This record gives sequence, structure tokens and C-alpha cells, in this order.
Amino acid sequence: MLRVALLGLLPYLALVNAAVLDKKAGTTTSDVFPPASTTVNTAVFPDESEVGYPGITVTGVEPAAIQTAPASLYAYNTDPVSSYPLVSDHPEGSDGSDGFDITKHWGNLSPWYSVPSSYYGLNDTSPNTPEGCSITQVHLLYRHGARYPTSGAPPSAFATKIANATAQSGGFNASGELEFLNDWSYLLGAELLTVSGRLQNFALGASFRQQYGYLLNNFTEAGTLPVFRTESQDRMVKTANNFAAGMFGVPEYLDQVNIEIMVETPGVNNTGAPYENCPNSNIASRGSIGSTAANAFAKNAFNGTLERLQNQITGVNLTSTDIIAMLELCSYETDALGYSAFCKLFTEEDFENYEYYFDISFYYNNGAGSPVAAAQGKGFLAEFVARFTQSIPSADSSVNSTLDNNPTYFPLNQSIYADATHEVVLLDTFTAFNLTALFSSGPVATDKRMENSFRASQVVPFATHMTIQVLECSNTSPSKQIRFIINDAVLPIDKSYAGCEYNKDGMCSFDTVVDVLQKRLEEIDWDYDCLGNYTASPGNDYNGRAPRD
Ligand SMILES: *[C@@H]1O[C@H](CO)[C@@H](O)[C@H](O)[C@H]1NC(C)=O
Ligand SMILES: *[C@@H]1O[C@H](CO)[C@@H](O)[C@H](O)[C@H]1NC(C)=O
Ligand SMILES: *[C@@H]1O[C@H](CO)[C@@H](O)[C@H](O)[C@H]1NC(C)=O
Ligand SMILES: *[C@@H]1O[C@H](CO)[C@@H](O)[C@H](O)[C@H]1NC(C)=O
Ligand SMILES: *[C@@H]1O[C@H](CO)[C@@H](O)[C@H](O)[C@H]1NC(C)=O
Ligand SMILES: *[C@@H]1O[C@H](CO)[C@@H](O)[C@H](O)[C@H]1NC(C)=O
Ligand SMILES: *[C@@H]1O[C@H](CO)[C@@H](O)[C@H](O)[C@H]1NC(C)=O
Ligand SMILES: *[C@@H]1O[C@H](CO)[C@@H](O)[C@H](O)[C@H]1NC(C)=O
Ligand SMILES: *[C@@H]1O[C@H](CO)[C@@H](O)[C@H](O)[C@H]1NC(C)=O
Ligand SMILES: *[C@@H]1O[C@H](CO)[C@@H](O)[C@H](O)[C@H]1NC(C)=O
Ligand SMILES: *[C@@H]1O[C@H](CO)[C@@H](O)[C@H](O)[C@H]1NC(C)=O
Repeated sequence: MLRVALLGLLPYLALVNAAVLDKKAGTTTSDVFPPASTTVNTAVFPDESEVGYPGITVTGVEPAAIQTAPASLYAYNTDPVSSYPLVSDHPEGSDGSDGFDITKHWGNLSPWYSVPSSYYGLNDTSPNTPEGCSITQVHLLYRHGARYPTSGAPPSAFATKIANATAQSGGFNASGELEFLNDWSYLLGAELLTVSGRLQNFALGASFRQQYGYLLNNFTEAGTLPVFRTESQDRMVKTANNFAAGMFGVPEYLDQVNIEIMVETPGVNNTGAPYENCPNSNIASRGSIGSTAANAFAKNAFNGTLERLQNQITGVNLTSTDIIAMLELCSYETDALGYSAFCKLFTEEDFENYEYYFDISFYYNNGAGSPVAAAQGKGFLAEFVARFTQSIPSADSSVNSTLDNNPTYFPLNQSIYADATHEVVLLDTFTAFNLTALFSSGPVATDKRMENSFRASQVVPFATHMTIQVLECSNTSPSKQIRFIINDAVLPIDKSYAGCEYNKDGMCSFDTVVDVLQKRLEEIDWDYDCLGNYTASPGNDYNGRAPRD
């Protein structure tokens, strides 16, 4: 039956193939697996509970590498496990011998990599437990791994432009470095987690178990399972599942953790998707001043490259937006398909400018330069403070009190918390936490590249994560301490929190930090920042707060 149907299609397929052979450029294709109406046959292939004979099953102790390994021996992600099994090409004009890693210049599309604590000024510490201390609780906030482009991102528009030109009578013709474009199709989907993205979240979960597994003993003693949270978008659900699979194992994760899925859709309060109830975040002059500024930067940054590439194409006039689209295709095709022919079109200088384009965009959309960042991060800030103080968060932000007033959905006594969200929300949250001064010395320049400024690939890459450790120390006063870690870099929080003194391990008194965070909660005016009538512009360090006109 199936065979007959396929044979019937064959002449048609051959015809279509001949027709599109020389008119392929820019067309869109996709695959669908699994085949429609197929299911796993558990009657014929029963699972292990039915088959039995599991062999010997002796458990060992929970791993606690964060406490047992010496400070100098932390498992950094420097040669990214997170980019295995991807390959990326060398930049134009380079044979790769200078070690320039293009994946570290992709802004929010970079796979996460460890940032050394020395980058923020702490030269003599690591995420491993400082001497004299033990970690009694850990709070993790993490991003989904690599995904397809969001819908409406530049790459698909570029594909349409090429396809349109191909359909014109004059036609489209590319030669030299760009010859591959004549046969290039757009092969990406939208929004979903990719294979390498899945691996990044799985690896994060596995490393979390390796480091903090012993904190599961608190749940064992209490006779209860952890609640981890995520949002309803497909990639967010898969992110939390892959994290849990890495942490608990497959298929154990199905029975060993409660995954709470918060609805992400316009109008609904959800701390993991605060832009859905903060109207100003969706207004160009407030919520996306960074996008405008980044596009203006790109208009000047790629002129030489634009000219070089234009000389190898007829039928389309390239713009700086097309250059960004092709750079994004380098990132997205590598992340999703494992290799991209676009990468070798661009020089190291181009990749630096590409990163800077994202630096501008994120600094002004979700960092210190944004008027709505702190308000959007206020929800998570309120929830963290609630967990620190075992109290119910107030609902004057994206907090959903229907969920948060209920200990089943918002428990306050866990030793391990793990919430998954988006990169914009992580940065909003860092801004609400008053951490932005650590990321750059003043506003990011929008006209030309500035050194020592905000770097998106270190703060908002795929699977980026903030780990907050709560510690008990025998050699500090008071004994209860706290410290903040972003992508393995321990932060010098004395620079952000009044009342904290320099500590070589980035620790500060738990109570002092909670006091500062409560003050920050009071000073972030969600109503004004999210609903008020004001105008913001790039070039300012607002500390994430709306200007008063
Ligand atoms: C920390 O290390 C950096 C280089 O990694 C160096 O520039 C800086 O002076 C060092 N700071 C201290 C306090 O030792
Ligand atoms: C492609 O062509 C269609 C139909 O002419 C047009 O609506 C669309 O704007 C074009 N898109 C691009 C990116 O040029
Ligand atoms: C495409 O451009 C190349 C280089 O300019 C040229 O040799 C070739 O004939 C062109 N092909 C078509 C189909 O126009
Ligand atoms: C947290 O408190 C609830 C309600 O008192 C209790 O059922 C649960 O076991 C506690 N969980 C932990 C991890 O202590
Ligand atoms: C709170 O969250 C629940 C579940 O995600 C959702 O159904 C409800 O609409 C939310 N409440 C508000 C006020 O947004
Ligand atoms: C780059 O090209 C744009 C558009 O043609 C032009 O306005 C701008 O001045 C050029 N910038 C530089 C730095 O050459
Ligand atoms: C490209 O720009 C030139 C000069 O403005 C114009 O003559 C030509 O028609 C444009 N080509 C396309 C394909 O838009
Ligand atoms: C939803 O958020 C708004 C704005 O912060 C708040 O006024 C409202 O009380 C919240 N609703 C719930 C159920 O949390
Ligand atoms: C987890 O258990 C350890 C050992 O009993 C204890 O020191 C720690 O305070 C507990 N953590 C939490 C958050 O209750
Ligand atoms: C926030 O950080 C700034 C430095 O960037 C500091 O001046 C300010 O006091 C901090 N706010 C609080 C509430 O500690
Ligand atoms: C916002 O303020 C501007 C300038 O003061 C004013 O023109 C505009 O009408 C106001 N918009 C609203 C919705 O109040």
C-alpha cells in the first residue's frame, strides 16, 4: 500500500526536481519525524518494569564535588562540551592558528562557556566551596540551550529575499566565496530546542548532580520531591526535561522531580516571561531601544565586508541587515545543523562587530541601559527574596500570586531550586538584583566598539546560568554567607551591595544581601516602569529603571 503510494508520487517528484534544480537559492525545506500516526508498541516491547531481571542495583553516596574537590580543581567548560558535537569554520583570512573561537563572538547565540572569576576581579577563587564553609542551599536560574531562530528573525527574511531574486527574470547569481548560495536552501525551523541545545541542558543537569547531589538528601529526609519550574513554550518544557534527565537520569527523572509549567502567553503573570504583563517592554521607545541602536551600529560596521560580498552577487543588493542575517545563519546553522558554510565568509573583525551588535542590543533592551529591565526582573527578585526569607512574595510585578501563595507550587523550604527561563529574563533579573555595574563601566558606546564593556556572550549565551550558593562558615561572622556565580565566574558582590565588604571568595553576609535586595525591591517601581508614559534613549545607564521625565 505504502509502496504503491510512493511509486505514484515518483514522476511528480522528478518533475519538481528538474524544475527547481537551478532555481533553488533561498527556498525553504523541512523534515518531519516521527512519521504520522506511529506509536511505540509497549505490548510488543514492554519496559524494564515488566521485563524484570535488572541485575544488582546498589546505590552509592550522592556526589558533592562542589565540596570535595580543591578550589583549584573546578570542572570549567572552557573547551565547550556544549559545542561538541558541532564544528565551526575558521574566519575569512585565518587558518585558525591564532585560536580565535568564533563561537565566543555570537552574543546570545553563543554556546555558554566558563568565564573566569578574574574577569570580574576575583583572581583567587572558584565555584568550589571556600575553606571553612559548607554549602547548605543552592538556587539555580538557567536558560534554554541552543534553539532555532525566533519567528521573524533576520535569517528567514534573507532566505525569502534570495528566493524572490531567484524567481525574477534577471535571476540570482553568486560566485566566488558565495557560490554555495546558488544551491542554498533555508533548512531551519523556528523557536524549538535543537539537538545541541538539548545536550547543553542535559550537561548542565548532569554537572549540577555531580556538584550538588548531596543536597538531595534534604528531600530524602523530608520525604518529599523537588519542584523545578519552567514555562509552557515547547522549548522551555523540553529544556526543563533535559535538565532533569541530566540531573536524575533517564527514565528516573520522570518519577523523581515535579516540573511545574507556568503558562507563557500575553496578559498572564509569569515571572519567567515578564514581558507578557509589562506593556512598556513591547513599546519601541522603551522596551527595545537596544534593537534600534544595534541596527544603527550595524549600518556602519560592515561596509568593507558588504562591498566584498556584494561584488560576488548579482540580482540582490545586500544591506547591513543581510550581513547580520548571514552572520546569524552562521550561528544558527552551526547550532542546529552542525556546520555552516556562512561562517567562513566573515573576518575576525566581523565577528567582533557581530558580538558588539548583540552587546548594544542586550545592554539597552535588558541591562542597565533599559528603562524596563529592572521592572521585568522584579518578579524573580521577589521570588528569590521570598525563598531567602520564607515569606510570600508581593504581587506588584510579574509575580503570579495564585501560584506563589501556595506552597505546593511555590515551596519555600527546598535545598535546591532550579528555574528555567529566557536570556532576556536572566539579564532583567541580574539588573533587578543590582548587578549591572559588574558587567560594564558605564553605558555601552553605540557608535563604535568600546573595550571593557558588556559582553553578551558571557552573560546571555545559550544555557547561561546564575548559581546562588548559601553557605555556613566556621571562619566568618556572621556564619551564614551568600555568593553569586554567573557561568562559573564568582562575582565580587561588594561592588553591588552596600554593606558588603571585599571578600576574596565573593561572599557576603546573607542578611546584609537580603536587606539590600529588599531595598532594591522597594525602589523598583513596576507600575511606573511598565505602565508609565516616558521616553528613554540609548547612551544612558539607568540601572534598569525608567527615567522620570
Ligand atoms: C587579577 O588578574 C588580572 C589578570 O588576569 C590582573 O590584570 C589583575 O591585576 C589581577 N588583580 C589582582 C588584584 O591581583
Ligand atoms: C518577496 O516577494 C513577495 C512577493 O512579491 C513580497 O511580498 C515580499 O516582500 C518579498 N520579500 C522580500 C524579503 O524581498
Ligand atoms: C554567474 O557569475 C559568474 C561569475 O561572474 C559567471 O561566470 C557565470 O556565467 C554567471 N552565471 C549565470 C547563470 O549568470
Ligand atoms: C517543606 O514543607 C512542606 C510543608 O510543611 C513539607 O511537606 C515538605 O516536606 C518540606 N520540604 C522540605 C524539602 O523540607
Ligand atoms: C497564574 O498562573 C496560572 C497558571 O500558569 C494561570 O492560569 C493564571 O492565568 C495566572 N494568573 C494571572 C493573573 O495571570
Ligand atoms: C557605511 O555605509 C553607510 C551606507 O552606505 C554610510 O552611511 C556610512 O557612512 C558608511 N560608514 C563608514 C564607517 O564608512
Ligand atoms: C540595486 O541597486 C541599484 C542602484 O541603486 C539599482 O539600479 C538596482 O535595480 C538594484 N537591484 C536590485 C535587484 O534591487
Ligand atoms: C498580576 O500582575 C499585576 C501587575 O503586577 C498585579 O497587579 C496582579 O495582582 C497580579 N495578579 C496575580 C494573580 O498575581
Ligand atoms: C540541608 O541539610 C543539611 C544537612 O542536614 C543542612 O545543614 C542544611 O541546612 C539543609 N538545607 C536546607 C535548605 O534546609
Ligand atoms: C546598587 O549598585 C550601585 C553601584 O552600581 C550602588 O551605588 C548602589 O548603592 C547599589 N544599590 C543598593 C540598594 O545597594
Ligand atoms: C505621553 O507623553 C507625551 C509627551 O508628554 C504626550 O505627547 C502623549 O500624549 C502622552 N501619551 C499618553 C498615552 O498619555
